[in-house]
Formats: sequence, C-alpha cells, structure tokens
Amino acid sequence: MTTTDARPVTTLVHAAGSPAGEWWRDAVIYQVYPRSFADASGDGIGDLPGVTSRLEHLAELGVDAVWLSPFYRSPQADAGYDVADYRDVDPLFGTLADFDQMLERAHGLGLRVIVDLVPNHTSDEHVWFQAALAAAPGSPERARYLFRDGKGPDGSLPPNNWESIFGGAAWTRVPDGQWYLHLFDSRQPDLDWEHPEVRAEFEAILRFWLDRGVDGFRVDVAHGMVKAPGLPDWDGHVSMIEGSDGSEAATGNHGPMFDQDGVHDIYRAWNRVLAEYPGDRALVAEAWVDPLSRLTRYVRPDEMQQAFNFAFLATHWDAPALRAVIEASYDAADSVGAPTTWVLSNHDVVRHASRLGLTVPGSRPNGIGHGDEQPDVALGLRRARAASLLMLGLPGSAYLYQGEELGLPDHTSLDDDLRQDPAFFRTGGAERGRDGCRVPLPWAADQAGFGFSPTGVTWLPQPADWAAYALDAQRGVEGSTYETYRSALALRRSAVLGSGGVAWAPGFDDDVIAFTNREVLVVANLGSTPVSLPAGAEVLLASVELGLDDAGTVLVPSDATAWVRLPG
Ligand code: GLC
Repeated sequence: MTTTDARPVTTLVHAAGSPAGEWWRDAVIYQVYPRSFADASGDGIGDLPGVTSRLEHLAELGVDAVWLSPFYRSPQADAGYDVADYRDVDPLFGTLADFDQMLERAHGLGLRVIVDLVPNHTSDEHVWFQAALAAAPGSPERARYLFRDGKGPDGSLPPNNWESIFGGAAWTRVPDGQWYLHLFDSRQPDLDWEHPEVRAEFEAILRFWLDRGVDGFRVDVAHGMVKAPGLPDWDGHVSMIEGSDGSEAATGNHGPMFDQDGVHDIYRAWNRVLAEYPGDRALVAEAWVDPLSRLTRYVRPDEMQQAFNFAFLATHWDAPALRAVIEASYDAADSVGAPTTWVLSNHDVVRHASRLGLTVPGSRPNGIGHGDEQPDVALGLRRARAASLLMLGLPGSAYLYQGEELGLPDHTSLDDDLRQDPAFFRTGGAERGRDGCRVPLPWAADQAGFGFSPTGVTWLPQPADWAAYALDAQRGVEGSTYETYRSALALRRSAVLGSGGVAWAPGFDDDVIAFTNREVLVVANLGSTPVSLPAGAEVLLASVELGLDDAGTVLVPSDATAWVRLPG
C-alpha cells in the first residue's frame, strides 16, 4: 500500500476562473467523424441525416458541443480533408439543407456546432487547382498554389527535399515540367498563403458558415499555411507518429514548412471576422508544434480561442510525465489567458483504449495491423477509463472522439487490402495508417452492422466482438464505460469543474496523480499498488469498482481513477 508522503504540500497549479466565461473556456466538445458516426441513407457511409438522428445521444451523454470533421464536396482522397468545394456538402453526406437541419436540431438541444476548415491545401479537383493545371507556368492561376521549377539540368529533381507527412516526396511534377508542393497527399496541393486571393477566399468561406450559424471552426494544419521564404531544404523528418524509442513523443513538427511567424497574421484577421458575429464564436488550432510556449502563440487574445493540447495526448502512461505536462499546459495557457484543452483520441491516432494496452502504454504507432504488437484489450480499456476520468476532472476544455464513450478500441486486425488511408499507400504499408480508429460506431448489439446503417453495410468492417461495446448494451448498465462518461460529464457540470482550479494534493506517491478541483479530489493511480483514500472521503465516481481494506479504508487500485469529496 502507498503510504509515503512524496508530495507533502498542496501546490497550486492553476487558479479557478469564473463559471460565467465564454462557453469554449470549459466546454466538452465531441468529435463526430461523419463517415463513421451514423448512416441514414444505407450506403454504409455515415451522413448528416445520420448525425441529426443521433444528436439526442450526445445531449444525453452531456457534452456541450460537437465538432464535425469535413463533410464538404470532396473526391475523398483523404477522407474529406481534400476539399473541392468549401461551400457545399458532398452528396455522400447529404445536402446543405441537411446541414441546416442538423445545426438547427443541435442548437435546439443546446449543443454548439464547430465545423472543420481545411485551409492549408485544397483537393486537386478544386476549381482553382484545375485552372492552375490548365494554365501555363508563371500564370496567375498557378500563383495560388506553390508551383516551382525543378532542380537539375532538366528540372527533373524536386525543387527541395521536403517529405510528405504521408510518406514520399512533398512534390509532384505536372506534364509541362513544373512541380507543385503537397505536404500531404499529391491530391492535396498546398495553397500559397502569401497570395491575397487565398486570404480573401478563406475569409469569405468563414463568413459563409458563420452566416449559416456555426459556433466555430477547427482549423486543420493550422501551423502549416505559411512556409519559410525560398522554401529551403530541410533534413528533418515530418511524421504523424512516434519512433519506437519515443523520440517523437512530443508534438513537434519543426522545419521551414511549420510554425512560421507569418501564420499568426492570418489568425488575427480571422479573429476580427468572428468578432463581427454575435455570440462567442471560436477557432481551435490543430497545430502539432512544440514546446507548449510555441502553441500558446496561436491562442493569444487577438488570435484563436483554443488549440489542441497534443502534448497531453502524446504523453505516456506515466504519472510524473503527465503531472509535468499538466503543469506546463496550465503555465502556457494561463500566460495568455486562454483555456487549456485536453484530448486523448481523435481520427488521426490509435484510440487511447488501444494505445494504453501496448507494452509502452500511451505510445503512438500510426495504426496497428496483423503482425504488429496487439494491445492488451482489457488493460487498455481499464487505463483508458482511468485516463478519461483524469482528463475530465481537469479544468479547461476537453475533446472526446466519437466512440470513446463506449470504450472502443482501434480495429487492430483490419485486412490491409481494406485500408483506405493514403498514409498506408504512400509509405508502402510501412505505416498502417488511421483506418483502425475510423471504424463505424456500434449502436445496437443485435443489429446488422451494429445498427450503424439501416442496411447493415459499413464502409469498413467492424470487429465481431463489438456487440459488447454497442450503445444499447451499455446504456443504463451501471459501471459501463458509457454510464461512467455520462456520470463524469454530469458531475463535471454540477460541480463546475470546467472552470475550476488545480492544486496537487499532498500525501500521495509519485506514481499517483492527485489534485483538487473545487470540492472534488481526483486520484489517478498509475502505480502498481492500491492507494488509500483519505478517511471519510465520499466516492463520487470511479473508473472501476473500488475495494476496502481491513480497516474499512477505500482503496483506489492500480490503473484506476476516483473522484471523491473530502469531509467538511
Ligand atoms: C489533419 C487532419 C488529418 C488530415 C490532415 C491533412 O492532420 O486531422 O486527418 O489527413 O490534416 O488535411
């Protein structure tokens, strides 16, 4: 049993704020990945009417807002992150009228709605890129993208040595000999953000969706739009994953294509656009930059409202490391008066229920498939529930990825011939890619396709054992992952934890994360021995059933988190 006083004094990490702040300061935001959330049409791909039909689930779960990944017109070369028309809904997902209905229903249920904005690149099928291909080198049409002549006597070498994040070269040659830059797939050409038309177009796109009533935008690759002048060579490596030695455990994408100072002018301009609209609209940065002090620059008072805290997501299951990142997150965000955010899973990473079941718990392979280390499913889920209660006990804004409220793991044995992520193909299969975290949700244990679609069709197969994770198998079942999330969100709201403070609690070992937030003491035990709760503590919620020792003291076992109220 843990008895040492490794942390003998209370240490204030973050002072409580006002519960009356803007909604995004403490919101729990649920990420809907539309193609895998709910399918109303029966074609096996989720759609906006499907989202609308399931919004009550999100209201019942108790989240404050929904973020939808892209549903715009797109050839789907990167699951919609390749946008051909920013002002229309792809027929796969429905129509603009379906979007309006979804938004109205969400607002009717008290849910805010954030949409995804993909400004770093367009689809190769975007009218601008098609015009650029049809025009000559040096033409105004080409100037909206990053076309360059190649190197070598005949220009047959790429203009620089940059790699695509999805693997391979970041340049593709067109028939007249020029090359264009794509930090991602060759079907995602990068825009030139020095071009005034590009800037004006995206401000108009913001207004288009603000006029429809959206509450904000999640900004894709927010650190990538401005490149260093001259596009200099760079010998570093860009990646979405962590090396086996944990070397890319941080969130850094360094190099001349990322986190350039000029990018902040764009967000200052967008901040002014949002300010023209009533209510509190929000911009959230998807910026894989480190250290946190660099990330903080995106959320200065005249820029964006939030940035994803990938430093937290990337930290292994290790109490001192997590404590350090929690402290650093508050220090950084507090220095500019922004809320910190928390996130454990999204559509780009192996779900935390699987990551935490790996030999190095919390490490981040880019996908898991046949022949790879398979996670320990039970241990992964146990730790995932503990990690989620740790996260939801922290003040700030928290992001949930669809299905984590069901405890879903990744599909870790998907056949490679079913994979669709361009990262799988561009790395020649060396990276499995992100399909495993994008499998359609199980809603009903006894229905074909687990109720995802009326026909039972699903665009990726669901593992056979997912019946146990289905919503209807967990709803109303005490202690299920779903009911645990629901209770956590209800308590977070009633105890006003989102705008609370954090002080490390004294008297716990180093491998225990223990803090108070308003009236609640959160105890996450990452160690191997049970931890005693203070005498008289009232258990409000726990990630597993808690036991008692002979003296009647409540024990938090290994890999578990409890929320308790202290006496008096
Ligand atoms: C972001 C998205 C990811 C996408 C990439 C290119 O990282 O989250 O899914 O593939 O940008 O748009």
